[in-house]
Amino acid sequence: MTVLGRSVRAGFESRFHRPAAGLWSAPGRVNLIGEHTDYNDGFVFPFAIDRRTVVGLRPREDRSIRVASSFAEETVELDLAELSPQNLNGWSAYPMGVAWALGEFGADLTAVTGFDVYIDSDVPIGAGLSSSAAIESAVAVALNDTWDLGMDRRMLARVGQLAENRAVGAPTGIMDQSASLLGRVDAAVFLDCRSLQSEVVPLGFQASGLELLIIDTKVSHSHATGGYAARRESCESGASLLGAASLRDVSVADLTRAAEVLDDETFRRVRHVVTENQRVLDTVRTLREQGPTAIGAFLDASHASMRDDFEISVPELDLAVEASRDAGAIGSRMTGGGFGGAAIALTPHRLVPAVQSAVAVAFTSAGYAAPDMFVVHAAEGAMRED
Ligand code: GLA
Repeated sequence: MTVLGRSVRAGFESRFHRPAAGLWSAPGRVNLIGEHTDYNDGFVFPFAIDRRTVVGLRPREDRSIRVASSFAEETVELDLAELSPQNLNGWSAYPMGVAWALGEFGADLTAVTGFDVYIDSDVPIGAGLSSSAAIESAVAVALNDTWDLGMDRRMLARVGQLAENRAVGAPTGIMDQSASLLGRVDAAVFLDCRSLQSEVVPLGFQASGLELLIIDTKVSHSHATGGYAARRESCESGASLLGAASLRDVSVADLTRAAEVLDDETFRRVRHVVTENQRVLDTVRTLREQGPTAIGAFLDASHASMRDDFEISVPELDLAVEASRDAGAIGSRMTGGGFGGAAIALTPHRLVPAVQSAVAVAFTSAGYAAPDMFVVHAAEGAMRED
């Protein structure tokens, strides 16, 4: 059993005074490319990382749900009949929101028993690595097994997204939960967010001597409020002004006309999404044909587009990208929703220490707090652990 697994078993017993019936886990994710494309029915290319959330769960005889975790003192309790988004708040809205969302997707919540669940995680919070999707996906697979629901992973991803949208209140797309549920070792998930068709594409980083370095700026971001929702609205209004159902239906060739129809800001928001969709397709094709050493330029172009057109970067992320590139990364970009969080730098293995120290020096000279830096590997998606 993993260290985290042991700590979940111990945490469960100390809170609930009985052993967990089983352990399930789900990973955080990093997005290689395809940012703010998911809610525009577009393409994304994320992978599950070797940082996980583990949950211990035991069904109860009655209809109570009790949730506890390593990151909060309190145990939160609710009756299954009381589950609804307005009764949920704080961290417990993630696990309880999933139980509620399973009901929205057809589970008969009047016919199931309650449960106790304990959660622990080594996915960093607030870094844009989907610590919340990791909780949702771990709880979703645990309840799918415990309640014998027989839902497939694609549906469980939609369950997690619904919990995030309605119970947590963040208007996010389907990428994070999909990566956490569908990820495979050494591979990324090429997902069409319109059809929800996905393909697992081998990354081959190790064979090419590459590492993916995370540079967590520790600048905080908030999706539920502000910027993320505003970008989503701009995309929807841009699509409707262009007579398209979504920006997925707008191509790079349509941008000339879009520039005539849209105001400058909306045009730049649209141009980011349209070109980003194309970059995802180009990245997947290039990876397959030429291997990962050939994809760096797409990562760089993605960052420039988010910085200049979508305007979701911050100076710390721009500096992380610039300093890592100057020190030898072959491509760098901010990853996730933006307004803070982490950058990724695709870096030759032997240059990782040099890139890390160059970024650290650049942050000190700029007067920024020291970032957290670590390498991640593409890992297996959600699973039963024990
Ligand atoms: C957050 C959201 C995702 C996606 C990204 C941006 O991570 O949760 O659904 O929109 O931002 O690509």
